[in-house]
Amino acid sequence: MGGFVSMGRGVLAAALIFTGALYGCSGDKGQEAAKAAKGAGPAQSGKPAAPDLAKGKEIYEQYCHFCHGYKGYGDGPVGIALSPHPANFVEDTKRMAKTDDELFKSITEGIHRDIGGEAMSMPRWQEVLTDHERWHVLWYIRHLENEGRKAAAQEP
Ligand code: HEC
Repeated sequence: MGGFVSMGRGVLAAALIFTGALYGCSGDKGQEAAKAAKGAGPAQSGKPAAPDLAKGKEIYEQYCHFCHGYKGYGDGPVGIALSPHPANFVEDTKRMAKTDDELFKSITEGIHRDIGGEAMSMPRWQEVLTDHERWHVLWYIRHLENEGRKAAAQEP
């Protein structure tokens, strides 16, 4: 009986050490992978030389569509419940008349409004996305804007 208990403890201890090792290891790997994925470093800061719409789409469909909707009408599943509503990139011509630099700044820093004591609005992406990623996603938004307007112009 005593033997069984001590063996049990041994197994438990081994299991704990093993889990600890796994966590420690996956933690480091996770961070490395995140860094690699973000390509954090000088190459990713500043403005990219040219838009990469495929990359922009990937980022948009990972982080932005919940609020802004796949086609940019501000009608994502989370967005419809938000007040103020997320920007409608296709139909809100006044907002989209802002320059790319202004919109980039909003994506970087977010927009904060005090509504009844609660700050609600557009999240800031500076810590989540690199400069390059924020530019690519902005260019993708411009692309959605153009596509949506073209489609509207074709309606009878
Ligand atoms: C939690 C919901 C939410 C998510 C997720 C979200 N947004 Fe927004 N976004 C908003 C809201 C709300 C506004 C309108 C803010 C306002 O005017 O008060 C907004 C506004 C904007 C604007 C207009 C900024 C301006 O200067 O008028 C841009 C551009 C934008 N979002 C880009 C993005 C991008 C790019 C992503 C993904 C990386 C994203 N948003 C993710 C809620 C969201």
